[in-house]
This record gives sequence, structure tokens and C-alpha cells, in this order.
Amino acid sequence: MMRSSCVVLTALVALAAYYIYIPLPSSVSDPWKLMLLDATFRSAQQLETGSQWKLLSSQSNLIHYLGLSHHLLTLNFIIISVGKKSAWSSAQVKVTDTDFDGVEVRVFEGPPKPEEPLKRSVVYIHGGGWALGSAKIKYYDELCMEMAEELNAVIVSVEYRLVPKVCFPEQIHDVVRATKYFLQPEVLQKYSVDPGRIGISGDSAGGNLAAVLCQQFSQDVNLKKKLKVQALIYPVLQALDFNTPSYQQNVNIPILPRHTMVKYWIEYFKGSYDFVQAMVVNNHTSLDEEEATALRAHLNWTSLLPASITKNYKPVVQTTGNARILQEIPQLLDARSAPLIADQEVLKHLPKTYILTCEHDVLRDDGIMYAKRLESADVEVTLDYFEDGFHGCMIFTRWPTNFAVGIRTKNSYIEWLDRNL
Ligand SMILES: *[C@@H]1O[C@H](CO)[C@@H](O)[C@H](O)[C@H]1NC(C)=O
Ligand SMILES: *[C@@H]1O[C@H](CO)[C@@H](O)[C@H](O)[C@H]1NC(C)=O
Repeated sequence: MMRSSCVVLTALVALAAYYIYIPLPSSVSDPWKLMLLDATFRSAQQLETGSQWKLLSSQSNLIHYLGLSHHLLTLNFIIISVGKKSAWSSAQVKVTDTDFDGVEVRVFEGPPKPEEPLKRSVVYIHGGGWALGSAKIKYYDELCMEMAEELNAVIVSVEYRLVPKVCFPEQIHDVVRATKYFLQPEVLQKYSVDPGRIGISGDSAGGNLAAVLCQQFSQDVNLKKKLKVQALIYPVLQALDFNTPSYQQNVNIPILPRHTMVKYWIEYFKGSYDFVQAMVVNNHTSLDEEEATALRAHLNWTSLLPASITKNYKPVVQTTGNARILQEIPQLLDARSAPLIADQEVLKHLPKTYILTCEHDVLRDDGIMYAKRLESADVEVTLDYFEDGFHGCMIFTRWPTNFAVGIRTKNSYIEWLDRNL
């Protein structure tokens, strides 16, 4: 009896280890913890696709039973039910949920500094593939709380609408509407914000929206120069080349494997998953697509990236591809989705910029190329690179999802804001 339960236990442990174990580069921060985090994500995803629940098919699938059919909606439902926090003020930071011109926001008002009556401010846009997350989940709530306290600042965290409720370019409209509302003199005054010290920031897909908003504002005579800095955390910046060295190197690295990133893009544009495989090999931007080929010159990494990054990776350029992809999803070539392809003329009006990139991230080279292009356009840029970082690490700073590199990236980001905002 003893022995058989021992055997069963060993088998279970082996099965769990098999499920959790994925080969990771030894240089990544806290690899076992990252495997556990990844396994959690994968289980949540499997739960939502229902594959684990087939055995219970008589009860139908739990999730469909709840009436949530769209799988991203379901995944977000899981994330939010696990981690949503209500607006809760601390002794130092006042937290309020309100709306700015119809867009929900969570506002964090840090403690005033006696010598400075007006506060600095950051408009923050959370990540999650334009489809997941919330300003109200624990991870973003804690980040903004800490920023408000350490910078004595007002942080506006935007609860923009997500896929599948809305698609491109509605997410942009939401963040633009909320930010424009906030920038009005009477609103800034209400929150005691210094109009000359406001920044825009975001991580991942939120970094994409922040970069797009910043380009849009810098082209608008009424909004030009209203933002002092932009700070982009491992931003998503282009969907033309899914074979940059970082995409090739990190193709299966958690928590953002390449095929997942391609699917987020497709969902953002309401496109078809039938194109995933073709897009992975750059069949949407083959040489017979003239416009795409011209735009790819803006992300020509053989010239934009140093040899230490390009190593032996080869560009993937198809002679002929699949013309249906751009016919059905022309937004792939829109600079409002891919700020990296904007003209130099647009880039040169951008404010001082911070870009954080991580080695173990498919998006590493999107960030490095943007830094390089901004530098060429005479914009002051800080590229903050983390050798042991992975996509998403900056929000994982507290137990049980605490990573050494999470704390270092967050501190480095907040320090940069402190010096430059
Ligand atoms: C890419 O396009 C080429 C040319 O049309 C085609 O032969 C190939 O099968 C496509 N690859 C994928 C993965 O769709
Ligand atoms: C990219 O840059 C390299 C080196 O400067 C050049 O040889 C190549 O033609 C460029 N490719 C494109 C698509 O512009």
C-alpha cells in the first residue's frame, strides 16, 4: 500500500515536472519561477479553450456555461477575477476611479512635496495584447501606486476598452480621449499637476499605444510639446517582420512566444487565424508587395542593429507571399499600429524617450530599432537593456511572482522618470 502510493506520487511529480519544465536559457532571471509562471498561463489558456474539460462534456464547458464565448474575453475574465482590486487609498496615495470624457481611469495622487506645490504626472497604459489586463488588477495597481508615491506624482492609469469588445483603432481613440481630457488646464489644476512635467508611458501593447499617441500629439499644433517624455517598456512596435533576430532567438520563450504575439495582432485587427503560419514566415510582406517592401526599409535590422545582436541570424524575405493577407488586413501597414514605420519627419518631433528592452523577448529588437531611428532623428533616447529580462518582467515584483529582474527593471524605470520628468 505504502509502496503503491509512493509510485503514484512519484508519477504525479514527474508528470507535473514534465508539464512545467521548458528549456530556458541559463541567463534568464529566476528560471524555475518563470517556468511556473508560464505553466500557470498555459493552464489558464487550456482551461479557457476547454481542452481540459472535454471529460466533463456532459456539463458542457464550464466557460461556455458562463456565457462567455470569446476565448480572450474568457481568459481576461479569469485574470481579472483572480486579481482585481478596488480603489484603495493608502496613507500616502489617494486612489480614485473616475472617467475622463467617458473613458474609465484610475487616478493615483501621490503625496505633495512641501517645496513643490505642483506635481509631476504620468499617463500610464497597461499591457496585455490590446485584449487582456486592466488598470485595476493588482499588478498595475501596485506599480502605479509605487510610481505615485516615489515620484510624488499623479498617475492616470487608463482603463481603455479591449479586444474583442473593440478593435483597432478604438483602443487608440480611448487613450487619446482620456489624455486630451486630462491635459485641459482646469483638469490639471484640479489635480495640482505641473503642465510642463507630464509624461506618457506604457508596457507591451500599452507601450505601442503610448508611442502611437505620442506621434499623434507631436503632429497636432494644439498638443505639440504638451508631453515632456515618453517611456516605453518592452513596446510592441511593428507587425511587418516576425523574423527579427529577437523573434528568431526567442520564438518559444515565455510568456510571449512568437505565435501568441502574431495572434494578438490578428485579433487587434479582427483578422483570421488562418494567416498565422503565413505571417510567421513574413508571407504578408514579400517582395511582390511594393508598399510593404518600401516600409520594411524602416525596420531593416541588418543596418539598424549592431553585429552583437544580429549574430548569424538571416533576414526572412519572401519573393512571393500571400496577397490575401494585406487585402484583408491592410492595417498591418498603418503607422498607427506600427509606430516603428513612421517617417523620420514624424519621429523628429517626439519628446525625450526611454525604451526598456529585455534579452529574452521577441520584442527586444522592435525597441532597439525604434531607439536607433529616434536617435537618427535627433531625439534624445535612453535605451535600458536587461540581459536577464523576459517579456512582462517589470510587473512581477512581489511574492509569489517576484523576479529579481522585475525589481531591477521597475527601479530603473522609476529612476529614469525621476531624473527626466
Ligand atoms: C508562403 O508563400 C509561398 C508563396 O505563395 C507559399 O508557397 C508558402 O506555402 C507560404 N507559406 C506559408 C507558411 O503559408
Ligand atoms: C538593408 O540594409 C542593407 C545594408 O545596408 C542593404 O544591403 C539592404 O539592401 C537593405 N534592405 C532593404 C530591404 O532595404
